[in-house]
Amino acid sequence: MASKMKTVVVGCGGMAREWVKHAVELDTIELVGLVDLNRDAAVAMADWFELSHDLVFDSLKAAVEATGADAVFDVTVPVAHDKVTIEALELGCHVLGEKPMSDTLDKARAMVAAAKASGKTYAVTQTRRPLVGFKSLEKFVAADGIGDLAELHSDFYIGAHFGGFRDAMAHPLVLDMAIHTFDNARQVSGADPVSVYCHAWNPKHSWYDGHACATAIFEMTDGVVYTYRGSWCNEGCDTTWEADWRIVGAKGTITWDGADAMKCEVVTPGQTEGFIREKTQVDIPLIEMADEGHGYLIRQFAEHVLSDGAVSVECPYEDNIKSLAMVLAAVESADAGRKVEVVW
Ligand SMILES: NC(=O)c1ccc[n+]([C@@H]2O[C@H](COP(=O)([O-])OP(=O)(O)OC[C@H]3O[C@@H](n4cnc5c(N)ncnc54)[C@H](O)[C@@H]3O)[C@@H](O)[C@H]2O)c1
Repeated sequence: MASKMKTVVVGCGGMAREWVKHAVELDTIELVGLVDLNRDAAVAMADWFELSHDLVFDSLKAAVEATGADAVFDVTVPVAHDKVTIEALELGCHVLGEKPMSDTLDKARAMVAAAKASGKTYAVTQTRRPLVGFKSLEKFVAADGIGDLAELHSDFYIGAHFGGFRDAMAHPLVLDMAIHTFDNARQVSGADPVSVYCHAWNPKHSWYDGHACATAIFEMTDGVVYTYRGSWCNEGCDTTWEADWRIVGAKGTITWDGADAMKCEVVTPGQTEGFIREKTQVDIPLIEMADEGHGYLIRQFAEHVLSDGAVSVECPYEDNIKSLAMVLAAVESADAGRKVEVVW
């Protein structure tokens, strides 16, 4: 393998600008193609970064065959992810794709099968996983910082006036946003989802057509319980986009507002008596990271490809499909009005 990963970006809409920025800036990536169903979008992307129009191709196949690309970045819309990713894998490329993997589990399973058959790497950019806060919590909980994990609770309240397609979705909050928060619950707990009961609704004051609010209770492996409360139409006292967390273990509790206020209290060692046990505040060491989010995941993916897999990827498809399964099971539960199993 050469010292640069030759890469084609498919889908040149709003989010792709962030991807192309990293592809242009990283010295481990050579951007060799830009593709979009709407050719003008690919041309506009080339213009934005002052790149040659020779990079613009009319199809993924033409781009890969003309350039001998090693990798494809799939930054298209969720309904197209299966088609683009499977075609790229069959053309012999590794794929890094936007979340969510797909819009249905059947399509996601077809992507899993194609990735297995190709022997290539397919990973997803679940961008809130590689953040200092979540990485630090993941490490601290795994190192027994609060004892055996029992519960996680997350609150997500942001009154977001997007306009556009989200206003017309049946479940805008759960389908478009909750995958990040659900994924972080898996990350921090290290547990897999088992079942979910979700109630979703749309308050009278909501500016969405579909359900902008949801409360979900997930049973996870090892007896862990995870609850999610969220709204995209509350006004005031917003949480962060990373949500507001309470994480409870056998010997202590962590609270985190998704920003700077992270606190951990554990029962003071030796305290075995008393109605309310004495607690000691413990600092959770913050992991040092040079980059986060898309930058982290794109850099890591290139290192993975260039090292023939010696560097691992953060969100491989076989793990990430579990977060998609949580979302789709929550929607199924809300529509059916009963608890459902989470399968993937
Ligand atoms: N990680 C995050 O925080 C985050 C934030 C926003 C969006 N996203 C995700 O990024 C992805 C893209 O979102 P966006 O906001 O850029 O959407 P967008 O609609 O602005 O852009 C999508 C582009 O893909 C093109 N496209 C669609 N199907 C195609 C196909 N089959 N082949 C080639 N091009 C195709 C469209 O023409 C469009 O230009 C989505 O999966 C979305 O969920 C992630």
